[in-house]
This record gives sequence, C-alpha cells and structure tokens, in this order.
Amino acid sequence: MTILVFDSGIGGLTVLREARVVMPFHRFVYVADDAGFPYGDWAEEALRTRIISLFDGLLQTWQPDVVIIACNTASTIAIAALRAAYPGQTFVGTVPAIKPAAERTRSGLISVLATPGTVRRDYTQDLIRSYGGGCAVKLVGSANLAALAETYMRGGMVDEATVAAEIAPCFIARDSARTDIVVMACTHFPFLVNRMRKLAPWPVDWIDPAEAIARRAAGLAHEQTATDAAHHAVFISGPPDALTKRLLTGFGLTAI
Ligand code: DGL
Repeated sequence: MTILVFDSGIGGLTVLREARVVMPFHRFVYVADDAGFPYGDWAEEALRTRIISLFDGLLQTWQPDVVIIACNTASTIAIAALRAAYPGQTFVGTVPAIKPAAERTRSGLISVLATPGTVRRDYTQDLIRSYGGGCAVKLVGSANLAALAETYMRGGMVDEATVAAEIAPCFIARDSARTDIVVMACTHFPFLVNRMRKLAPWPVDWIDPAEAIARRAAGLAHEQTATDAAHHAVFISGPPDALTKRLLTGFGLTAI
C-alpha cells in the first residue's frame, strides 16, 4: 500500500514526516516536480494542465492507495481537476488552514502567508467566505520564502533581512488588536518557522496543517499492519544532487 506525497519541491517533506508517524506500515513515495518549481509563479491553466498530465504517469507507475497533494499552490488550482480526471483515485489536498485559524483567534486578525499563486486563487477567497467566521483575513503572497526554505534545508544560509521583509505584511495592529495567528499556507514554510518566530515583530501562533493532513490521509488509507518496503523519492528533472540526496536520507527516502 503506497502513499504518494507530491509537491513542487521539498516542502511536502513537512507533511511526509507527519504522515510517516501516523502510517508507520505504509510505503511512501515522495514526488517533487522540481522541473516546475516554483509553482507560485505559474499561470493557472498551464499549471493545472501540467499537474494533471504528470499524474497520468505517476499513477500508472506507483498505483498509490492515497495521493497527498502536499502543496497548497497545486491543491488550490488542481485538486478538483485531479479528482475529475482520475475518479478511482483517492486524493488528499492541502489548502490554507483558514477554518482552524478563525476558530482559534482572539483578536479576529488572521494572516495567511502563502505563495503568490495561492493568494490569487478563487479557491482561497471561497475558503475565507465559507470559514473566515467574520475575521479580518489578510492574504500575504511571498515570492521568496519557498526558495529560501529549499536553500536552508540543503545546508545553505538564510538571509534574515529577506525573511523579515517577507513576513512583515502579516503583522497588523488595528485599534487595540493585533494579528495573533499566521497560517503557513505553503508546505515549505514550516522549515523556516523558528526563523520566522525569531524575526516576528510580536509573538503569534504559526499554524502548520501538516499533522491534520496526515491524519486525514491515514483515515482514508487502507489498513496496513506490517511492511518491509523501502521509501523512495522521485525528482521529475532526474536524480537529485548530493545535498538533496543527503536531505532525503534524513527523511528515510532513497532517491531513484
Ligand atoms: N510547497 C508549495 C505550497 O505549498 C509551493 C512552493 C512553490 O512551488 O512555490 O504552496
């Protein structure tokens, strides 16, 4: 029973690590469409078409029990189209965690930090309308954080001034209220959360939906009680470099 976890890059590993805990006997295949990274800049129709056609081959090769689209940018554009194109396949999407944020905020000021693509989507606007609960929801599109997370996780330096500038628009003070929740609506961002915490103008709750996504997938996956299968990672542009392979090893994955 294979669980396929998909992202544009290494961000989906933040979901994979939670999924492995709640599904310890399943076999995982991690797929990174690094040839298309970053997804945040793509035009909607072109990205949707690309993802649908990638899954043609992926589903045939891996025949997964469940597919986790561990990418907000891909889910908000393509999850409905994927379900329509492959009706026999179970897909779990990752979409901005606006509902839990609206339930948890005390000030009523929430920010959603995402890629520019996720911020533009009708899907995201619909989530705010349906689940925003009357809160003031500020959408903040970050052009650079996903790439910074890619660099950081491969052992590179992260420019703190850039991180501070990217998160600054999330922080709003209005009358006596201040933003108290920032939703991390890109799966790359939890890798930088300690840096973002350090650079935040005041403390907030940073919501990472990874555990909830993993539990949702576990609820839909077939029961599995033992395994001897190895876990693999596939990069669409070909076998990854040594630093990426090292990172994947840390997540229990062998690149093929
Ligand atoms: N990890 C992706 C997400 O959750 C986006 C990164 C990108 O390709 O720009 O939105």
